[in-house]
Amino acid sequence: MIVYFNGQFTDLEEVKISPFDRGFLYADGVYEVLRTYYGRLFRYKDHLERFKNSLSAIKINFTGIDILESNIYKLFELNKYTNPNLSVYIQVTRGVSFPRKHSFPEVEVTPTIFISASPIENDNHIIEKGIKAILEEDIRWSRCNIKSISLLPAILANQHAVEQSAGEAILVRDEHLMEGSHTNFWGIKNGEVWTAPLSNLILPGVTRTVIIEICKSSGINVIEEAIRKAGIKEFDEFFITGTTTEIMPVTQINDYIIGNGKAGTTTAKIHKAYLEYVDGKTWY
Ligand code: PDD
Repeated sequence: MIVYFNGQFTDLEEVKISPFDRGFLYADGVYEVLRTYYGRLFRYKDHLERFKNSLSAIKINFTGIDILESNIYKLFELNKYTNPNLSVYIQVTRGVSFPRKHSFPEVEVTPTIFISASPIENDNHIIEKGIKAILEEDIRWSRCNIKSISLLPAILANQHAVEQSAGEAILVRDEHLMEGSHTNFWGIKNGEVWTAPLSNLILPGVTRTVIIEICKSSGINVIEEAIRKAGIKEFDEFFITGTTTEIMPVTQINDYIIGNGKAGTTTAKIHKAYLEYVDGKTWY
């Protein structure tokens, strides 16, 4: 596997990262996950915008932004990928600095950049059945809009889900369902779609933006309000969204089975509209 690391395309095995990299020591960095359809980066500008916001929020001066897109395509080429569905991981950390010290390095250091790309295999079988989700207390920090590589609360929540044979953990803050450990969360009540509003308490998902656009153009009303934990049973359907997850029905929350335990009709309608949007190729 060829990856991009600090200005070079190189074999994954050749990459050497200093233990004094602030990403390794402090999780002092941000990341982005993108995907392709038809071999083209999906909604690249939205991802780029979010990445720039994350970098500036933690004051990393990364100068390679303008060559990012061409480097990603070069990476596809060098790996000779034939699968048109690829996922791309980008990470930038504040760089290497010694001795270990919490505050930013006093001398200017070059941020560390890493990009990898790999094929996505989607399992359509699960989409019909949907997944079980569990509820977990949202113990993350209060800057969840930054795509920080410091992911411990999300990791622990997701691992807890796996241990309970669930596909995602929905994070609950102040009795409200905010988002999944690595997805945005949605409910459908009386044909209207609910999702938490943009704030410092959720990640502004690119798929979230696309879904809102699709709902609006399909005449489906979107209510940007977080679902109350106590109000779960008022909802007819639930689903999660994310770059590689796309749209995944949630058919069980903890022990509660939603409806008949199968993907709901409005979720299916939104999913179909999403796939049509992707096929329409108006996004590049
Ligand atoms: N996760 N919320 C959280 C906490 C996320 O980590 C993600 C993405 C999303 C969905 O965002 P988008 O639609 O832009 O992918 C929402 C990525 C894919 C990850 O960590 O792997």
